[in-house]
Amino acid sequence: MLLTQNSKLKTSFMLTIENISVNYGAIEALTNISMRVEQGEVVTLIGANGAGKTTTLRTITGLLEPTEGRILFEGKEIQGVATHKLVARGISMSPEGRGVFANLSVRENLQMGAYLRKNKTEIAEDVDTIFEAIDEIRSKGTTILLVEQNAHAALHHSDRAYVLETGKIVMEGPSKELAADPRIKEAYLGE
Ligand SMILES: Nc1ncnc2c1ncn2[C@@H]1O[C@H](COP(=O)(O)OP(=O)(O)O)[C@@H](O)[C@H]1O
Ligand SMILES: [Mg+2]
Repeated sequence: MLLTQNSKLKTSFMLTIENISVNYGAIEALTNISMRVEQGEVVTLIGANGAGKTTTLRTITGLLEPTEGRILFEGKEIQGVATHKLVARGISMSPEGRGVFANLSVRENLQMGAYLRKNKTEIAEDVDTIFEAIDEIRSKGTTILLVEQNAHAALHHSDRAYVLETGKIVMEGPSKELAADPRIKEAYLGE
């Protein structure tokens, strides 16, 4: 997910998630989660299958409605705002169901970011992994919320991380610290 700043606004908090809960019918998929992504940061959300990563992204992009809590983009509440309007405002995501390592997804991410920044020609055409793309986008100051199955790489290419377990944030901190944490190593890094 790329978060592109509207230059007219001067807030350092690009995305703020405050105490949101999300249900699928009787199933509570997210329970009272809070996260923030500051301008220029790469923040990753890691968690096992079923932890709620996709649900978090779907909720930010307006595809699911939280039962409680608030989501703010550049300081303004965005719950209930239509997905296409959020894209126009600077929130873009690679499509569901595509491999996050697939070149297509990378290109789409880059093109979307380029389109939103209106500097398409600056984008290199040879950027061949999602992580090269992330480093490239990051170097241009775009803010990224990275949700990735590969926790090792995600922690290596991000500034801060949140750990989601069965719909709850159980740890957060600088990615370097989490990558060195014995619990994270055992549960997510296979070390
Ligand atoms: N469409 C759905 N209907 C009912 N439950 C769902 C649906 N999508 C996801 N869930 C449940 O919500 C929880 C979080 O899923 P998900 O956000 O896909 O996790 P992740 O992306 O981390 O693998 C899981 O328990 C999953 O079974
Ligand atoms: Mg998922």
